[in-house]
Amino acid sequence: MSIGIIGSGNIGAALAHLFVKAGHAVAISNSRGPASLHDLVAALGPLAHAASIEEAIAFGDVVIEAIPYGRYRDLPAAALTGKVVVTAGNYYPQRDGVIDMGGRAQSELVAEHLVGARVVKAFNTIWYQHLQEQGDLTKPINERRVIFLAGDDSAAKQIVADLITHIGFGPLDIGSLHDSIAQEPDSPIYNKDITVAQAHAQLAR
Ligand SMILES: NC(=O)c1ccc[n+]([C@@H]2O[C@H](COP(=O)([O-])OP(=O)(O)OC[C@H]3O[C@@H](n4cnc5c(N)ncnc54)[C@H](OP(=O)(O)O)[C@@H]3O)[C@@H](O)[C@H]2O)c1
Repeated sequence: MSIGIIGSGNIGAALAHLFVKAGHAVAISNSRGPASLHDLVAALGPLAHAASIEEAIAFGDVVIEAIPYGRYRDLPAAALTGKVVVTAGNYYPQRDGVIDMGGRAQSELVAEHLVGARVVKAFNTIWYQHLQEQGDLTKPINERRVIFLAGDDSAAKQIVADLITHIGFGPLDIGSLHDSIAQEPDSPIYNKDITVAQAHAQLAR
């Protein structure tokens, strides 16, 4: 699969490494432009290349946005129409400023901006160093570290769940974009080092 990544920081770079290791092609971008990504793409190897944001979007069957949450309005909505867009962002007021959620999930605001995109919330509940280290393809899915996902498009969620599986984690579908409130910072499942089986048990409680 071809994957475009917007954001080359902790999460964007960690995912790029995991995706190329799993055999996917990656175009990675950031706010400073492709020249700033020389060292990262050299480390990522031949399956990865540096791109502008527009090029990464055009390249990706799936596009990951891993930029500070408060910048989501900078994402180019027209270019992302029709794309499966994974939003990994978490809202931290001290970093992002005050944003009125109006009772909506953080991902719903992103989806309202990205009209026509197939938005899936994922990868936001795991610290990037755990993401780098804890995937384990040898384990059955239920015994792997869980990565939660949510969205309103079932086919898009299946594509993202498959990617999560390819990089050694276990996907667990929380429900709709609105339901992704349950996987936001300070929720009981946020940043918890638990397996899929443990997560099922915790959610049942
Ligand atoms: N860190 C974690 O463990 C973790 C875990 C889960 C979720 N998250 C969430 O994921 C998001 C990214 O976190 P991070 O830790 O990876 O951040 P980070 O290390 O600060 O990296 C942010 C990246 O976004 C790029 N960027 C910033 N503004 C942009 C814009 N307007 N357009 C395009 N690219 C832009 C930056 O570009 P430059 O490189 O050019 O500055 C940088 O590459 C945040 O919302 C965070 O809360 C983080």
